[in-house]
Amino acid sequence: MTAPERPDWSETGFRHIWLPYSQMKTAPRPYEAVRTEGVRVHLADGRILIDGVSSWWTACHGYNHPHIREAVERQLARMPHVMLGGLVHEPALTLARRLAALLPGDLNRVFFSESGSVSVEIAMKMAIQFWLNRGVRGRSRFVSFRHGYHGDTTGAMSVCDPDEGMHALFHGILPAQHVVDLPQDDAAFEAFDRFLGGRAETIAGVILEPLVQAAGGMKFHAPAALARIAATCRRHDVLLILDEIATGFGRTGSLFACEQADVCPDIITLSKALTGGTMPLAATVASDRVYDGFLSDRPDHALMHGPTFTGNPLACAAADASLDLFEREPRLAQARRIEAQLADGLKGCAGLPGVVDVRCRGAIGVVQLDRVPDLNALRQRFVEEGVWVRPFADVVYLMPPLVIGEDDLGTLTAAVCRVVSEWSGRR
Ligand SMILES: Cc1ncc(COP(=O)(O)O)c(C=O)c1O
Repeated sequence: MTAPERPDWSETGFRHIWLPYSQMKTAPRPYEAVRTEGVRVHLADGRILIDGVSSWWTACHGYNHPHIREAVERQLARMPHVMLGGLVHEPALTLARRLAALLPGDLNRVFFSESGSVSVEIAMKMAIQFWLNRGVRGRSRFVSFRHGYHGDTTGAMSVCDPDEGMHALFHGILPAQHVVDLPQDDAAFEAFDRFLGGRAETIAGVILEPLVQAAGGMKFHAPAALARIAATCRRHDVLLILDEIATGFGRTGSLFACEQADVCPDIITLSKALTGGTMPLAATVASDRVYDGFLSDRPDHALMHGPTFTGNPLACAAADASLDLFEREPRLAQARRIEAQLADGLKGCAGLPGVVDVRCRGAIGVVQLDRVPDLNALRQRFVEEGVWVRPFADVVYLMPPLVIGEDDLGTLTAAVCRVVSEWSGRR
């Protein structure tokens, strides 16, 4: 069978692009996407794939939602961008007000950037400077957890799992942090308490993805573990940064994962589904206590950070429209329905030789395998099945748009069961 012809723009442009997470010498040629609609991705060769990934977990309302599209079009006609230095505008201030109202506790001050990694850098910088502004020196390190992933910029890389977090090569070059096992039982919590208590005066903050450590292996922990980590931070007066870049906006069944543990961090980071997956935007949101630590008659106590596109009006308009959809449409109920269907639809994988675990939390379904020698072959099989599913490391997972219907989700889970059972039979 001859391969379908590629569009001209692909033939001429491909040799000039450098793609993310790719060994460009050996990576298979990517598929050309030409259109997205609802939960479907259309390819240039005419195939249409049901999306099980939500474009790296962003497209919570599906693609091309008319309400977001119209909001962005209106904003584009009026003011696509203006600097936030010395000027403010309605989309950013409205979004900041609405986020503060939705977030738990006194997370009231919103600092905008354009990517999750940068929002983590800002959170780390805020935490370090919070202590410096109080005249406390030496609190410059962070505690993070094995299997954590917080982004690809230098500071964010330093708090990722050094082995699972894709940055092992940079051992010894990144700032040294404390990456510890996430405590899950009494003995581990006592050890964590001793660990934090023993060096609290050197620690600026603890950073954690609440309930689901996503890109570091799709590991789950219980709300009770999150609550105990938060209590330990409070006991030793260490700032708690929760990275809800992946878990925020309904993915785990509540608007924010930390709500399930009744925990309010000192700083929270948001991105991905913030704009419903339409525009790059991130937010680092500080509690009143952290924010107040920057108020001073001294100019050098200000947070000296300001990405050029901070608070971009188009992105903020998209995020405002996305929040409308969370208000008007039953996204959280949809996430819970997806959880039930994922649990049922993936249970056929449990017990297959080579399947280590099958687990679901909110609109996240995970089949963990013992080893995947050829990820690319597995990925290709999913496309042949008419679905967009991208296993990584040792996990095959589904994080579909929250609006996905029962039939489409059934197609996704059936494809996972078929491909995993084939893989299991061959290993
Ligand atoms: C929890 C978490 N934090 C940070 C990031 C980095 O975000 P970005 O890719 O937008 O820089 C990610 C991305 O997957 C993430 O899942």
